[in-house]
Amino acid sequence: MKYMGSKNRFAKELLPIILKDRTKGQYYVEPFAGGMNLIDKVTGNRIANDIHTELIEMWKALVYENWQPPLDVSEEDYKNAKDNKTKISKALNGYIGFNSYGGKWYAGYRRDKQGKRDYWREHCNNIMKQVPNLKGVEFTNTSFTDLDIPENSIIYCDPPYEGTTKYNNKFDHILFWDWVRTKSKQGNKVYVSEYNAPNDFVCVWQKEAKSTFSANGVIGGTKKSTERLFIYCG
Ligand SMILES: C[S@@+](CC[C@H](N)C(=O)[O-])C[C@H]1O[C@@H](n2cnc3c(N)ncnc32)[C@H](O)[C@@H]1O
Repeated sequence: MKYMGSKNRFAKELLPIILKDRTKGQYYVEPFAGGMNLIDKVTGNRIANDIHTELIEMWKALVYENWQPPLDVSEEDYKNAKDNKTKISKALNGYIGFNSYGGKWYAGYRRDKQGKRDYWREHCNNIMKQVPNLKGVEFTNTSFTDLDIPENSIIYCDPPYEGTTKYNNKFDHILFWDWVRTKSKQGNKVYVSEYNAPNDFVCVWQKEAKSTFSANGVIGGTKKSTERLFIYCG
């Protein structure tokens, strides 16, 4: 699924590192699973969490209720869904809201001036391709701080990056890094995607990549930045 901050294009490089010493039955947990663009390439015991309710309701309906999302949504229906003018399910709201510019929640109806692209069909196809790979995943909808994580898990964190578009104004980066320290000390293997990390973290992978950026909440263009993967080194 096209999703803001998607790690799809890095999956081939990140997953061999993250899953390197995974043991049989060991849980793979994503507290910030978003568009499920990494966890859909992992098998076995998995937990996918995200704080976004409509998003998680959408995944649950698709994976466990055989829900078929619509292949077309008019601009008027998009607006009504955005403004809560129509009573629709949370799952459908999630599906509509994320087919937006930059894969960002209700950031604008996607239309193709030349009429060559069918964005709803693309959205639907992208999502439906992921669905079979998500069978067996336990979906949860809470903040990472309240997430129940089985002992000795592999935890991959892809939080909102510091200093980038705000998914959630209240994201507390200090609390987050502290939580990672605690989870690491408890015996979990914790990996974090970010551009930068505090000094007691070490970078185990990095790559220059283009990323979309935004100013005042409006997605403006692309810039180069270095994607990194960190672990706590205490
Ligand atoms: C960079 S995105 C994850 C993208 C995902 N890895 C992918 O490839 O599609 C970050 C996610 O963190 C979620 N999020 C923000 N604050 C959160 C919190 N306190 N607890 C859990 N999830 C949160 C957002 O809803 C968003 O989906």
